Amino acid sequence: MWVGAQAVPEVDPQRPSGARVYDYYLGGTHNFAADRQAAAVALEAMPDLPVVVRTGRAFLRRAVAEAATAGLNQFLDLGAGIPAAGSVPEVARAVRPDCRIVSVDLDPVAVVHSRRVAADDPGQAAVLADLTDADEVLTAPGVRQALDFDLPVCLLAVAVAHFIPDTERLGRALERYREALAPGSWLVMSHACEEDESPHAKQILRIYNHTTSPMMLRSRDEFRALFGDWTLLPPGVTAAADWRPSRDPAPDPRPSRGEIIVGAAVKPGLGETAASRTRRAHADGNLSAISVPERTWP
Ligand SMILES: C[S@@+](CC[C@H](N)C(=O)[O-])C[C@H]1O[C@@H](n2cnc3c(N)ncnc32)[C@H](O)[C@@H]1O
Repeated sequence: MWVGAQAVPEVDPQRPSGARVYDYYLGGTHNFAADRQAAAVALEAMPDLPVVVRTGRAFLRRAVAEAATAGLNQFLDLGAGIPAAGSVPEVARAVRPDCRIVSVDLDPVAVVHSRRVAADDPGQAAVLADLTDADEVLTAPGVRQALDFDLPVCLLAVAVAHFIPDTERLGRALERYREALAPGSWLVMSHACEEDESPHAKQILRIYNHTTSPMMLRSRDEFRALFGDWTLLPPGVTAAADWRPSRDPAPDPRPSRGEIIVGAAVKPGLGETAASRTRRAHADGNLSAISVPERTWP
């Protein structure tokens, strides 16, 4: 199969894919029977999984809105998934219409749909790649055309690092990205946490291990280490629902288990930047959380 100028592997509709199962949880239609079946088994084991997923997506939207508000207008979205309502480009451009966004995914279905959405938009690109091939991603023509690495970039790795079991490879790749980005850049990540020891979490792991995206839980300390020497922005590493919660009077219910931990960090090295001003304002309690219309999106 070809996606634009890139040859991509054939999609096997019989084998569930993490991207398509996730699309199903979000109410999307880009999934096959095998994906829906895997999702149904997971839902039986963990009925509040859709709440976990929605809480994670709400974090992604808040973090993107905060980064754009802090002055960032370039986003490199690793493991971007199949585009869904309330996507990174929608949220970022609602704050800053000049935002440029590149999504990266190793799932051909995700990339096909991202390219369809990005068609004729010079400020968007979608790259088919394994995010752990950091040099391939950083030098991909779509990335180089859309993003200027002399200026800060918001690097997103949301709900994806737990699909990379090789911690050393993941760590090396993130180190390479951190090195390549300019001071003032942000790294926004979320991860399934191993401190949730419920049998349900273990069952979910087993289910995902039969998909194209086996899953791996990590501890808070392991997660924190993925940010390297970048400065964690307040409130640090938290549960997804606790990261700069929305002022929405009726936020999503908190998931009772299967907690996702999250964090955002800034690359040090700039003086008083928009990012550091935002960080200080949050620390001083002068900046209330940005209100993103949570419930209009899944
Ligand atoms: C759960 S979805 C998350 C989508 C989006 N980031 C979000 O938070 O809504 C995880 C995505 O990561 C992709 N993925 C998994 N491993 C990857 C890798 N090594 N490189 C690039 N993408 C990967 C999957 O194909 C899937 O689309």
